[in-house]
Formats: sequence, structure tokens, C-alpha cells
Amino acid sequence: MLNDPVLVNDWHVVAYAPNLKEGKPLAARLLEEDIVLWRVGERIHAWRDLCIHRGTRLSLGKVENDTLICPYHGWTYNEEGQCIRIPAHPNQQPPAKACAKVYQAQEKYGWIWVTPGNPRKDVPEFPQWDDQSFHKIHCGPYTFKASGPRAIENFLDVTHFPFVHQGYLGDPNFPEINDYEAEISPDGVVARDIMVWQPDPDGSGKGAYVTYTYTVTRPLTAYFVKSSEGPRFAMYFTVTPVAQDTSIAWTYVAMDYENKPDEEIRAFEDMITWQDVPIVESQRPELLPLDLQAELHLRSDRTAIAYRKWLSQIGLTFGTA
Ligand code: FES
Ligand code: CO
Repeated sequence: MLNDPVLVNDWHVVAYAPNLKEGKPLAARLLEEDIVLWRVGERIHAWRDLCIHRGTRLSLGKVENDTLICPYHGWTYNEEGQCIRIPAHPNQQPPAKACAKVYQAQEKYGWIWVTPGNPRKDVPEFPQWDDQSFHKIHCGPYTFKASGPRAIENFLDVTHFPFVHQGYLGDPNFPEINDYEAEISPDGVVARDIMVWQPDPDGSGKGAYVTYTYTVTRPLTAYFVKSSEGPRFAMYFTVTPVAQDTSIAWTYVAMDYENKPDEEIRAFEDMITWQDVPIVESQRPELLPLDLQAELHLRSDRTAIAYRKWLSQIGLTFGTA
């Protein structure tokens, strides 16, 4: 695991919770390390995916009687990660050193979150989650062969809408962006009242200006709320730092109106993201440059500038240059 204290001491999504079934371990990858997930009812376990005996992947094993059993020689680990049975020596107490590397894990927003460290803060907020007026639709996951900060910065960028998402999220005849404010605080970035012309913002078939407000709560988690006349649409976006150059984006859209079946909305978000992926994967340098002298910045890039400044302030190294 690369030693980036900022990301080590943060929570990261590693799985969609419904995919972690009782009785079957699930493999994931976070910060260049393999992780095995398993559950006993509500209790979620996340360990380094490695049996201390001969280094086999525990995720290839099975869950039985609230234990995880290695597929190779059957070493049996309890929920605390301690080996309690070595089948070749049934009468011998397993050595205390025979234990798994255990991480903190929890289920929230329908995802499994893991941290390898000791975060000061809990899982990042998702204000629409408990707001019953918003209907939530899970989308993704989407793999980017790109750094996490590059993927987040693309999520924060509205000036690409008329070009990358022409006809869907923007119109090349109306590419201009208003002056808006992006504020940095120790907790992140908020960029308010960014106006974007969209051909059909709410499915009514009419073009309109919509207003975006973006909130960055963690180096790799952000959301926006967009509103036009009436309807509100929010999107929550969090990225798993798999490796410096590999990221997985997990998202929810949240809407306080309904005009289409969930499947259609998911298909739309998939299409939009697959428009973004080749663009983001093509960016060089691969790691997001935090030196503001690198690349060119204009007024309309305020959110990105604030994001880069904030990442410098908190000392993020993973995925940045
Ligand atoms: Fe796991 Fe031997 S490698 S029991
Ligand atoms: Co895009």
C-alpha cells in the first residue's frame, strides 16, 4: 500500500453492498492492495486478501459458521481475523501470529466503505440520501485508467459539457460560463451558481439555463446539485483509488422528480460516462499537476483551481504530481 496518509486515513468505497452476499467472500482492490470482503449479517469484514500461511488469496475461500476458511490448507479465521483452526494440526492451538491484517469497514449508502487507517472523519456526507423527496438511482461502477484526482476534476468541470456531451448536457452554441465563486475551506471546496445552458435539463424537452453547485468533501468524493425552474437533480460521485493510474467511480443520481424508469436513467449516465472516459484517460501527465504553473487556467476553471489548491493544502500525493 502506498503511503499517502491523506488517503490511508480516509474511507473508500470498495463494493456495491448488494454484491457482498452472506457466505461468499468478495475480492476488491484499494491503494494497490488486494482486499477480501465478507459479511456475517450486518457485520462487514475487510482484510488484506492474503493467508499468512502461504500467501493464498482468502477471497478464493469460503465463509462457514462465521469464519473465513482459506482455500489452500483450510486455515480457519474468526471474525476478529485470528486463525482458530489449522486442520493439519487439529489439536494444536494456532499461533497468535496466525492472523489476518484487519481493516475497518462499514456499509453506508448501499456501498461497502473501507479504510486502511484511522480517519478523523466518518464516511463523507450525502445530503440527499436521507431526504425522502429525492429518488436515488445507483449508477456505475465505472473504471477509469486514470488517476482519481483526474476523474474527480472531470466530474467538477462544466465547460466540457457542450463538447464532450453535446446535445445532452450542453450546446456548442451556448458554451459561455458565467463568473462564479469557488471557496476553499479546510473541509473542501464549494463552487456556487455555475450557469450552464442545457438542451433538455429535466426531460421536458425544453432547453434552459440550469445552475450547478458543486461540493468537494474529500480528495476523491464530490457531489453537485443542479436546479432549474423547479426540479432538482443531484449527483454523488466517489472514486476508489485502486492504483495511481486506475480508479473506479461509484455514483448515485438523486432526483426530486421522476420522468423515466431507473433503467433509462442508468443507461443515460452510462452513456455520458463513456463519453468522459476516453477524454480523461488521454490526459497527460497522468497524475494531476498541483503546481498551478503547470497547464493553463482560466476564470471558468475556478472549481478545478480551487480543487488543486485544496489538494496541495491537505498534502495529497497519491494520483497527483
Ligand atoms: Fe492458507 Fe495454507 S495458504 S491455509
Ligand atoms: Co463529462
